[in-house]
Amino acid sequence: MANSDQTILVTGGAGFIGSHTVVQLLNSGFKVSIIDNLDNSVMEAVDRVREVVGPQLSERLEFTKGDLRNKDDLENLFSKTKFDAVIHFGGLKAVGESVANPLRYFDFNLAGTINLYQVMAKYNCKKMVFSSSATVYGQPEKIPCVEDFNLQATNPYGRTKLFLEEIARDIQKAEPEWRIVLLRYFNPVGAHESGKLGEDPRGIPNNLMPYIQQVAVGRLPELNVYGHDYPTKDGSAVRDYIHVMDLADGHIAALQKLLTTENIGCSAYNLGTGQGTSVLEMVTAFEKACGKKIPMELCPRRPGDATAVYASTEKAEKELGWKAKYGVEEMCRDQWNWATNNPWGYRGEA
Ligand code: WQD
Repeated sequence: MANSDQTILVTGGAGFIGSHTVVQLLNSGFKVSIIDNLDNSVMEAVDRVREVVGPQLSERLEFTKGDLRNKDDLENLFSKTKFDAVIHFGGLKAVGESVANPLRYFDFNLAGTINLYQVMAKYNCKKMVFSSSATVYGQPEKIPCVEDFNLQATNPYGRTKLFLEEIARDIQKAEPEWRIVLLRYFNPVGAHESGKLGEDPRGIPNNLMPYIQQVAVGRLPELNVYGHDYPTKDGSAVRDYIHVMDLADGHIAALQKLLTTENIGCSAYNLGTGQGTSVLEMVTAFEKACGKKIPMELCPRRPGDATAVYASTEKAEKELGWKAKYGVEEMCRDQWNWATNNPWGYRGEA
């Protein structure tokens, strides 16, 4: 099988997007080593990855509990294994939490990533796929978002992603042998078709789809729809929701490009579908998937939210040979399958 002698380090590989990407890496023939501090994820997710890929491929997966802010944790890994590339998910990603506690975000996301780059350089591993976010577009003046748009941050979490994109560009400019791909995710939703892997946020979900999911399984009473007076088709805000499996495959495509293209430099790519879906459309789609009415309350806009954000997908299609395959119906179908199999996520009853 192709890639069979290549080993990829995945930071944050026990998380929502990380665990789905690890499944696809193993299915693509790579060996995988996960480092995760389990601050915002659980070991059960790694056990589920093993279940999904089966015993043979599970032999090619290692897990180490570790924290990127502790250089010794990274030294331990890099001194024992030669990594062909790193896919770096490890970090915090809740916008609201970052506003309340910016220092925690600068510590986890910035200090952790700088440590990672330093240890990668020491062991001459200079190929990085970095988990960025559409949040670096801030409140885009135009849509769809194109990779060469001006970037802006509207919250500390987004600022860490923006800083880390600039840090990547500076590192690669100083040492051209670095190959770095920055993947800007739009709104990741859905779950693996098996129903064994999915998003399992701690506490009350900030994001729309996990919130709708918890209303549908009866964990929350009703959905607050933030804003119904936007200049959009139905007054609610529009986003580019992308199936987490499409996102995972986008990482495989980016990794293959990185491993085979010497002069890739430091390149950013949107991982979105290019389609905009409103909040109310998402609710209707989920109701169809779960066969239940989602009780909801129309509320004022949430501060900092943009009216509409969706991706231009041309660059990823042309340069990575990647295009999202799944639509909103499959996203809701698979998210509901995960919810019915795991109404309380990985953690079981509250
Ligand atoms: C989507 C829409 C809400 C919850 C965020 C981060 C971004 C990225 C993805 C990490 C908005 C509305 C939501 C609810 C609602 N994360 N909504 N009721 O804000 O587009 O992006 O997650 O990279 O960085 O900013 O996603 O799911 O929070 O909101 O009406 O209970 O759903 O107002 O219009 P968002 P979201």
